[in-house]
Amino acid sequence: MQSPHIPVMLNEVLENLNIKDGGVYVDGTFGNGGYTSAILDNKNTKVISFDRDETVLSRVAEVKEKYGDRFIFFQECFSKILPTLQKNNIGPVDGLVLDIGVSSMQIDTPERGFSFRFDAPLSMAMGQNDLDAREVINNFSETELADIFYKYGEEPRSRAIARRIVSIRGEKPIITTFQLVDVIKNLVGEWQASKVVPRVFQALRIFVNNELGELEGVLLDTENILKSNGRLVVVDFHSLEDRIVKNFIKSKTEPKQSVSRYIPTNIENSEKLSFKNVNKNAIIPSKEEVEENPRAHSAKLRVMEKL
Ligand SMILES: C[S@@+](CC[C@H](N)C(=O)[O-])C[C@H]1O[C@@H](n2cnc3c(N)ncnc32)[C@H](O)[C@@H]1O
Repeated sequence: MQSPHIPVMLNEVLENLNIKDGGVYVDGTFGNGGYTSAILDNKNTKVISFDRDETVLSRVAEVKEKYGDRFIFFQECFSKILPTLQKNNIGPVDGLVLDIGVSSMQIDTPERGFSFRFDAPLSMAMGQNDLDAREVINNFSETELADIFYKYGEEPRSRAIARRIVSIRGEKPIITTFQLVDVIKNLVGEWQASKVVPRVFQALRIFVNNELGELEGVLLDTENILKSNGRLVVVDFHSLEDRIVKNFIKSKTEPKQSVSRYIPTNIENSEKLSFKNVNKNAIIPSKEEVEENPRAHSAKLRVMEKL
């Protein structure tokens, strides 16, 4: 059932990381090790990789076998990169890459409950989680559920869906993906469900894994993770993540706009910028890549360099 994860925009990632011989790089989202191995193959580098999911450990062992001491792995969330590096006296480093989201192995493993295409226990936990989707669906209040669907799925019918879930779970707990899909289908109809179900699943996944909090956490640490001229490369897949990355890069690379034209420009620009933006616009995958790997279709790559 599992398909191997095809690394998204691999050439663009390597090029934008600006890999140097002797450089040390952090891959915050190891997954199937696609980026990690490519960085290790590209030049004589060291790579320190992170992933929260313990199921990657067999792949970690293969990469370790091939590259030995040039590769180190921590099973940790990427918001913990900075404290983990500091604790192990590593860094600052030459580059940090993040490929946000789920891997093909995760989404295609029915038992993980990430996909509405398979009937499975409602879980969606990537690893190192405080809770799973089943607990959220069965224990959270109607208002909390509506907020989750609206905030993380941008679902316009969030309130009605939350109301229906609370009513159904009062009769019988909702414990499988298909039970949840049926609740939504019965409410909005088969045709609308093809749009609503993915939004509700996305919302639950983001919430259960605190995906946006994780992203904000690591971004705030990049200044201390990277050395001068070190680069941050982020590949993201939906607008909520991309907005966070885009605004963060903007805040670190552009002088704040003055509120008044009477404020002298030397004051306006007095805040020292710590990064420069490497590409003005996000880089997107080529048509050929999307044809070969449809999962790349919504990817955006953003990059900035520490001054
Ligand atoms: C899209 S895959 C990465 C694929 C990888 N670039 C490759 O080429 O094989 C994303 C991986 O990041 C991991 N991940 C997602 N959020 C994470 C987080 N907050 N901390 C650590 N790992 C995370 C997931 O478990 C998954 O294995």
